[in-house]
Amino acid sequence: MIKIAPKETGIHDLLRKRWSARSFSEAMIGDDELMNLFKAASWASSSMNEQPWRFVYAKRGSEVYEQILSTLMPGNAIWAGKAPILLAVFAKNSFDDGNVNLHAWHDVGAACTKLLLQGAELGIFGHQMGGFDREKAKNIFQYPGSLDIVSILALGYLGEADDLEEPFKSRELTPRTRKSPEEIAFTSFSDL
Ligand SMILES: Cc1cc2nc3c(=O)[nH]c(=O)nc-3n(C[C@H](O)[C@H](O)[C@H](O)COP(=O)(O)O)c2cc1C
Repeated sequence: MIKIAPKETGIHDLLRKRWSARSFSEAMIGDDELMNLFKAASWASSSMNEQPWRFVYAKRGSEVYEQILSTLMPGNAIWAGKAPILLAVFAKNSFDDGNVNLHAWHDVGAACTKLLLQGAELGIFGHQMGGFDREKAKNIFQYPGSLDIVSILALGYLGEADDLEEPFKSRELTPRTRKSPEEIAFTSFSDL
């Protein structure tokens, strides 16, 4: 089940190949591949080249994996708990001089996209999640106040949609849709 975006979009093949899978095979991602993904993330642009992205990664079966999994909303945990790797994604919220970095989350999102695109090149799929309990994450992860938790990301090789329970199987099989350029790009502010 590959939900590649249609060729008619005219966008780059790598962009077409990235999509948010829910069905993962049991195969573990190798350490070299994982580091390659983080390297891709690190080559994102960022305000003042601050590189505010931070990741905690965990392999299935580890204590940290269970900690990350325990923060997910049930509708995410049910499928994400089969992914070989879970990441907790953080943003360093201020510069070293103490000034707030207003672009930190923006830049972390950009880095995640690079990570996912590099994954697409390697046949590794990812699924970003905002559906987790932030308060629980704060208590369990005990991360420094200089960081914000942004998202949780499941990573792995593609599994079979048939292995998913409903409604996730149907969601996995539903075609992806997008707004048209005319709906998101304008030539005047009053059209927004
Ligand atoms: C910040 C963020 C949070 C998301 N949270 C969830 C989530 O909690 N659960 C989920 O199933 N998908 C989540 N998604 C995935 C989106 O639903 C998905 O990206 C969107 O439907 C477009 O599909 P595509 O990524 O396959 O192109 C999230 C994506 C992003 C970027």
